[in-house]
This record gives sequence, C-alpha cells and structure tokens, in this order.
Amino acid sequence: MAFSFASVRSQFPAFQRNINGKPAIYLDGPAGSQVPLSVAEAVTKVLLHHNANHGGYFATSEECDAIVAEVRKSTAQLLNAPKDTEIVFGANMTTITFALSRALAQQWQQGDEIVVTQLDHDANVSPWVRAAEDRGVTVRRVKIKIPECTLDLDHYHQLLSPRTRLVALGAVSNATGTRNPIKEMIRSAHDVGALAFIDGVHHTPHLSVDVQDWDCDFFVCSAYKFFGPHVGILWGKSEWLESLKPYKVRPAPETSPDRWMTGTQNFAAIAGVGAALDYLADIGLAVIENEQIPYKSLQDPGTAKKSSEQRRDHFLLAFQAIEQEERRLSIAFLQELSKIPAVKIWGITDPGAVGDRVPTFSFTHASHSPTKIAKYLGENGIFCWHGNYYALPLTEALGLEPEGMVRVGALHYNTTSEVEQLVACLHQLT
Ligand SMILES: Cc1ncc(COP(=O)(O)O)c(C=O)c1O
Repeated sequence: MAFSFASVRSQFPAFQRNINGKPAIYLDGPAGSQVPLSVAEAVTKVLLHHNANHGGYFATSEECDAIVAEVRKSTAQLLNAPKDTEIVFGANMTTITFALSRALAQQWQQGDEIVVTQLDHDANVSPWVRAAEDRGVTVRRVKIKIPECTLDLDHYHQLLSPRTRLVALGAVSNATGTRNPIKEMIRSAHDVGALAFIDGVHHTPHLSVDVQDWDCDFFVCSAYKFFGPHVGILWGKSEWLESLKPYKVRPAPETSPDRWMTGTQNFAAIAGVGAALDYLADIGLAVIENEQIPYKSLQDPGTAKKSSEQRRDHFLLAFQAIEQEERRLSIAFLQELSKIPAVKIWGITDPGAVGDRVPTFSFTHASHSPTKIAKYLGENGIFCWHGNYYALPLTEALGLEPEGMVRVGALHYNTTSEVEQLVACLHQLT
C-alpha cells in the first residue's frame, strides 16, 4: 500500500472540529499550522514531570537539559547544520532577528550598505532597517516583478557591491508562495564579501533545508509553522555565533549557543518542537515502510527508527513526499481558482511552474474586499487570512494597501477536496 497523506490527519485533533455542522477547513497554515496530539503531549509531559530551570544537579533539571539537547540535535539534522551548538532557540523569528541585527550592526560603518527585498515578511526587513538607521548604513531594496511576484534578480545583482555587508533574503514568500533561488543569491552575496541571512520561516513547513549546501551565514525558522509550538530557531555559522557580541546579561554563559539564548527558555515548548520533528521524521519512515523505497543508508526501517543517525534521511524522504503532495495541491488551487474570472492571483500562476512555488496563494477579487471574503469564508468554516500578513513591503509594492489580499495556504495535511470546497464557497459569495 502506498503512503497516503490522508493517514496523517488522524494525528491532528483539530480536524475533529466542525463549523455549522461541516468539518473546519484549515487554509490558515501560513499563519501557523495545526499540531499533532504528540506535540501537545510532549509539552504537557515537561510541565508535569520535568519542570525545572536548566543547569542544576537534580533530576528534573537534568531531564530538562537532556530534552533540550535532544531537540537541538534533531533540529540540527533538520537543517543539516554541521554542529548542534549552532542551533539557538528563542521566542520567535522576529525577536531573534531583532537581537541578531543589533549584534551584527556593531560591525557596520557609515558608507556600508545592506540589501533587503520587497517580497519579504517585514520581520526580515524592519530589524535590518532599524539597525541600519542606528549605524548610518544605506538600505537597498530588491524590486519584484509584477504580477508574478518573483524577485527581480537583475536588480538584485545591480544592488550588490563591495559596500554590501549583509543581504537579508526570504527563502519562500509567506504571501505569494514564491520560492527564491537563494543558493545562487547567497553565492552572489559572498562574491562581494556580504553575509547572507535567510528567513526560512515559510520554507521550512514545505521543503527540505540544507544550510551547508546553501552556504548561508544565518538561517531562521519558526516551529509553529511546521506543526510545533511557538519557538523561534536560529542557525548560524559557528565563526559568527562565537565572534559576534550578543546583547546578553553578564552571568549568562559566554559559549554558543547559550550566549544567544537570552533569558529562560520555554523548555516545554522546545520539547514540543522535538515532537513536531519526530512527526516529520515519521512521515519519512512511513514512506519507506509503505513504499519500500530503496534508500541507500536505510537498511532496516525497524532499527532505523531508533537510530538518530538516519534521521536526516527521514527528513529528506518526508520532504520529498510533502513536496510532491503539495505540487498536486498547487495545481488544484490554480485550476479551481481560475474558474472564477473575478479572482486575480498575485504570484506564479503557470501550472507548469508549480515547482517554483509552494501552495500559498494570495488573491484579490474584482468586486469584494479581502475582509469581506475572509469573513464569508470564516463563517462557512474555511479559515484563511486577509490583509498583508506582515508582508507589508509586498502589498505596498503592489499598491494593495490598506486592504491587502486574501491568503489561502495549504500544508501537506490539506486535500484537493478542501480546495474545491473553497472555490465552491467563493462561487456562492459571488
Ligand atoms: C516568512 C515569515 N518570516 C517571518 C515571520 C515571523 O515569524 P515569527 O512569528 O516567528 O516572529 C513570519 C510569520 O508569519 C513569516 O511568515
């Protein structure tokens, strides 16, 4: 029997929810995914049985430290980080980025430049702009191509110069689902001597990450977007995490990653991140077990489950399957939404180019505002987002402020039938 994504839905209590007698349809994933039961159980377990601050010589503290160390290891495998000590946990991506930007900016001088983009979430723009203002540094902004909402790469290359100290790039847009060619963009940044900071928040729920292959300097993501609780994650090359000077209190450790993890962490939530990663690795394992995929480093799936060495392989297989499933969903969105001529999708619309996007769609309607559409869908049990979802540089560039767009986004647990129901509901409204 081939592995089917329908089987994962039973792990999510949220799918038992009804609105007006009909199952809720979660197309709000880009703002935060639902979580499997195992994630909530892992959080509860820490609160009930291992609740202590870290670094003590007593059972609960030692257990708590062991849990965080295990989750850090698993996170390193998710990102293909060379060292566990390069994984920093924090409150969320925005908070981490503000902290890092302040520390990095200490190295900048007047005359220096940084590069941000019009396609990014503002959390990958404002922290850098504010730090640049503090240091008298010039901010360059990469334009987008309209209406496909891809980055203008010629413009990007024009902006790079030996004065560029940092490029802040999004791997995937949280508004239009556009995948950016970040590996090439990182290489170009390095060619002029700039550092590359990658916002992977909207990439990580959909696609595999490989910070070594990309050769970025920093990568950030947020676990509540990939089936876990609210925890932000930063990966940075050791050379930067160790040489930069974080804003920290004096008694806190000087060694990485602790020097970057200001204050007491949310250990229970970090345990939940571990369970979310187990969930993803288990998808990889299920793919092997159900499809008998020959995968060179996996001899026996039974022993594989126990071996954390093979976890990276499980993540890769899981994301291979997720990507395939999500391309089907992208095609369904494009086909279904094209049945309503009044709907205009902002982003890649060519069904032959679904490999260049994830199934996150933003659209406007010729006669109904985004707020009206989102309210109508919400009343009908279809959860989606409206406005700019903090991708403010994009809605400004598109001239769509203040109303913004409607965003419907699928994750691997969504179905093509849900996409059809979305469009049927939009038909009713119009
Ligand atoms: C692409 C992108 N970057 C950054 C963020 C900010 O993440 P956080 O909520 O963890 O601060 C979001 C949140 O929606 C996002 O979608």
